[in-house]
Amino acid sequence: MKFFVDTADVDEIRELADTGLLDGVTTNPSLIMKSGRDITEVTKEICSIVDGPVSAEVTATDFDGMMKEAKVLAKIADNICIKLPLTMDGIKACKHLTSAGHKTNVTLCFSATQALLAAKAGATYVSPFIGRLDDMGIDGMELIEEMRLIFDNYEFETQILAASIRSVNHVKDSALAGADVATIPPATLKALVKHPLTDKGLEAFLADWAKTGQTIG
Ligand code: E4P
Repeated sequence: MKFFVDTADVDEIRELADTGLLDGVTTNPSLIMKSGRDITEVTKEICSIVDGPVSAEVTATDFDGMMKEAKVLAKIADNICIKLPLTMDGIKACKHLTSAGHKTNVTLCFSATQALLAAKAGATYVSPFIGRLDDMGIDGMELIEEMRLIFDNYEFETQILAASIRSVNHVKDSALAGADVATIPPATLKALVKHPLTDKGLEAFLADWAKTGQTIG
């Protein structure tokens, strides 16, 4: 499973890229707003930190506007992935951009039929929003399971990018359901490594080691 980080905070991205575990980054207009920075400037910096795809989202809602913005975003760096909303105009723009050789991420996916449209349009990634479905009392994981089955049935190459991840269990369940990628907020990504028994076990080993009076090397 590939890990993307879901943030526009360059300090967090740098820290996570340093672990060697980061395969890409996703941003959205809300995350850009949170960063307090200019979209072109911050996206360029993110693209220089990671080699993998960096999703940058269009804000136009009509096809022509999306294509115009996509051209501007694509010029920022070679590893830009154009993020488009799951609307008919977004699907149409996805088809055009994919055919022109761009990487695309169709976002705000909440149903299997929406995902099917994105795959038919040749999207590189489609992003089911797990947390937002769970918030409404709908099992987000079921959507990933349905998408996996549909994509496998027709051998679609579109990758399932589990998004709106809120917990370590979301990451685990997405992996079990066969998502290709999870885009994870920095705090949740860092929490994946944590287990109280690891801390407790390490503490006990170090206490016993101190009693030996030895050092390694
Ligand atoms: C995905 O690309 C989105 O940026 C993100 O996962 C949305 O998550 P949220 O529902 O926590 O805002």
